[in-house]
Amino acid sequence: ATEETLVLVKPDGVARGLTGAILARIEAKGYALVDIRLVEPERATLEQHYAEHEGKPFYEPLLEFMLSGPSVAIRLAGNRVIEGFRSLAGTTDPTTAAPGTIRGDFGRDWGLAVQQNLVHGSDSPESAARELAIWF
Ligand code: CMP
Repeated sequence: ATEETLVLVKPDGVARGLTGAILARIEAKGYALVDIRLVEPERATLEQHYAEHEGKPFYEPLLEFMLSGPSVAIRLAGNRVIEGFRSLAGTTDPTTAAPGTIRGDFGRDWGLAVQQNLVHGSDSPESAARELAIWF
C-alpha cells in the first residue's frame, strides 16, 4: 500500500557532500519526495527520535554525532517505501553492508564510538508516523 517513511541523511552524509548522491538513488528507485528540509535538531528532538536506544552504550555518542551538524530530513512516499528504502540503505553496520547499498558503497568504520552510517530510515509504519511527527 502507499505509505510514507522518514529518511534522514545524517550529519556524516551531509558533511561528506553525499546528499545529492543519496537523493539520486532514492529518485532513481522511483520514490516521491513529499517534503525535504535541512535541519539542525535540538537535543530534545533527538532524545525523542532515539528514545528506544536510551541507556545503550552508543546512546550519548549517537546524540553527539547527530548534533555535530545538519541533517537532511525527507518525507518519502510510495508503495512499500519503508522496506524499500531500508533495502536501498543496507544493513546498519556500514563495514559489512552489501555493496550496491548506500551504506555499503559510501560507508565504513571510522573507529568511533558510534556507527556513522549516513542515513536513517523508519523501520515500521508505527515508527514512520512517530518519527515524521518529530521531524516535520
Ligand atoms: P539508526 O538505525 O539510524 O539508529 C540507531 C543508530 O545508532 C544507528 O543508526 C547507528 O548510527 C547507531 N548504532 C546502532 N548500533 C550501534 C552500535 N552497536 N554501536 C555504535 N553505534 C550504533
